[in-house]
Amino acid sequence: MAGEYAATMQAWRDDPSAFWLRAADAIDWVEPPKAAFDPSAGVYGRWFPDAVCNTCWNAVDRHVETRGDQPAIIHDSPLTGRQRIITYRDLAARVGAMAAVLKDFGIAKGDRVVVYMPMIPEALVAMLACARVGAIHSVVFGGFAARELAARLDDAEPALILAASCGIEPGRVIAYEPLISEAKRLAKVRPPVLYWQREAAPADLAADDYDLGALFAAALEEGRTVPCEPMKGTDPLYILYTSGTTGRPKGVVRDNAGHMVALAWSMRNIYNIEPGEVFWAASDVGWVVGHSYIVYAPLLIGATTIVYEGKPVGTPDAGAFWRLIAEHKVVSLFTAPTAIRAIKKDDPDGRMPADHDLSHFRALFLAGERADPASIVWAEKALGVPVVDHWWQTETGWAIVGNPLGLEPLPIKHGSPTKPMPGYDVVILSDDGEPVPAGTLGNVAIRLPLPPSCLPTLWGDEERFRSAYLDAFKGYYNTSDAGMIDDDGYVFVMARTDDVINVAGHRLSTGVMEDVLTSHPSVVECAVVGADDPIKGQVPLGFVVVRPGAEIDGLEAELVAKVRHEVGPVAAFKHVIPVPRLPKTRSGKTLRATIKKIADGETYTMPATIDDPEALADIEIAVTSRGATA
Ligand code: COA
Ligand code: AMP
Repeated sequence: MAGEYAATMQAWRDDPSAFWLRAADAIDWVEPPKAAFDPSAGVYGRWFPDAVCNTCWNAVDRHVETRGDQPAIIHDSPLTGRQRIITYRDLAARVGAMAAVLKDFGIAKGDRVVVYMPMIPEALVAMLACARVGAIHSVVFGGFAARELAARLDDAEPALILAASCGIEPGRVIAYEPLISEAKRLAKVRPPVLYWQREAAPADLAADDYDLGALFAAALEEGRTVPCEPMKGTDPLYILYTSGTTGRPKGVVRDNAGHMVALAWSMRNIYNIEPGEVFWAASDVGWVVGHSYIVYAPLLIGATTIVYEGKPVGTPDAGAFWRLIAEHKVVSLFTAPTAIRAIKKDDPDGRMPADHDLSHFRALFLAGERADPASIVWAEKALGVPVVDHWWQTETGWAIVGNPLGLEPLPIKHGSPTKPMPGYDVVILSDDGEPVPAGTLGNVAIRLPLPPSCLPTLWGDEERFRSAYLDAFKGYYNTSDAGMIDDDGYVFVMARTDDVINVAGHRLSTGVMEDVLTSHPSVVECAVVGADDPIKGQVPLGFVVVRPGAEIDGLEAELVAKVRHEVGPVAAFKHVIPVPRLPKTRSGKTLRATIKKIADGETYTMPATIDDPEALADIEIAVTSRGATA
């Protein structure tokens, strides 16, 4: 309805507490919140500090009576050729049985449980079972290697790992047991592992390993369950690690109450989804999009969620997404622009959607990286529905800037994720922390307090939370994105201001890759930058200075293999360019932004602070001769 967006923003600005208390009506509470916000608690205040609740109850139990026979989860797996439907009634029984298994292993409120599973319903069941017993889950994406898993084990100190025996990628099966065993060797924290055995590659169980499927089946057979643990609104629901500037991942903490309230609000007002409808987020449970919009948000409102074990292309072709939408009556799809670029490459004229009945399909949502206008235009033409970009981060758990289709569809400007959502006072600041005029590029910041669902801190490291997000601009959360707001209030998000790169919608740290490269005996120093890529948006490119006398033949292959082994295949690290030296400022900081410009073939201005201008010429020569031989 016209004016609804402005009215909603005004209502939130006039009285944020009343606004969020009204939104809290969508949730079943053990004890409803009396106060929405306590400004004196935590680092910048805490949401719903006096509420008592359980997220599993809200996502599962409360729907059994009214929609027990409705599908809660549809698993569609072209990689195994299987499909499975789990109703809300089935889901309640499964989550109850999984929770009983957790209890048998002594898992109690506040314990951490690492979940290392691919796109199978058991990943969701495991997460919900943790929520049920009050354990804090930390899901690790299957594309990360052992060293990354080890870093998460040491930081979260879990009491248990719930794993699958394997993940399945096109053309290969990834056995998880060797990865987990190596991670346990590398880590100081070595919890028991419960393996969900999959046919494609069952795990050989060692001393401290258990057969999760067998334990679960017995609990299910006996109809075992455990009651939902009453949780304080501010108790953590999960920790999700994300990339920062340094090699050490940041453990983003998510509260129970604020998360539920914000997600339920977003499902209706941003995604325009009603209970009973089918919503599909084509991401992975290992990322924040998966946490929020594969698992929690659809289930919180009693919708049906799709768990897709496949790719946008190649499983079997670029029509896969449209086949699923038609077959399962999906009303809205959420994916990353990279998936659209991959589909567009195989179906440039956008003919494949016409092979399917998409009459019930209402909107395509994009996030995870900047949505390039060319992909949006292609999708609009091919699908004939609104293509809606929205911008958010692991840290927030839901959209900071978006287009609230359920409230009032705002006119779309290509290249902009549209306008701030309630709760987010988005401001563009100069490097000195001063607000800049409309249309001026600067640091995108959010005036404190952050709204419900946003991180209250980093796991076990409040100091790092302050220094990473709050210290740059007093009174603001620094998003580490650069952008601008135009005269109409539309926000444009252009690039990261730190050393995080975005590869196929996956957030990765160049610092992690640099650590791996410099640990090779032949490498003296290095710089990894995100070079432009037509499909993945960015791909990492490593520039290395090699030790005098070191063997250069075969070094690239060795370094590529090392990053794949230590960070994981998802880094998509494939190229290394040796250079005699790296360009630096006089204070010794590597000029990565300028190196990136050279790698992308863009013009650049000589940085005033450069120590040795010749070093830039070296990079140019190396990039050009690499291009000539590529
Ligand atoms: N477990 C193990 N390996 C994994 C993995 C997982 N869960 N996910 C990805 N990988 C591997 C891939 O097999 C690939 O390995 P390869 O180097 O042997 O080919 C590598 O990691 C890179 O994977 P990916 O980024 O998926 O690239 P791709 O070339 O296989 O496919 C796209 C390209 C665009 C189709 C794909 O990236 C995609 O679907 N992106 C959508 C992104 C998304 O959902 N983002 C989440 C935020 S919304
Ligand atoms: P992640 O935490 O993995 O969700 O990654 C968050 C980062 O991805 C943001 O800080 C942005 O840099 C980028 N990003 C996500 N969505 C968008 C978008 N719609 N437009 C531009 N950048 C985006």
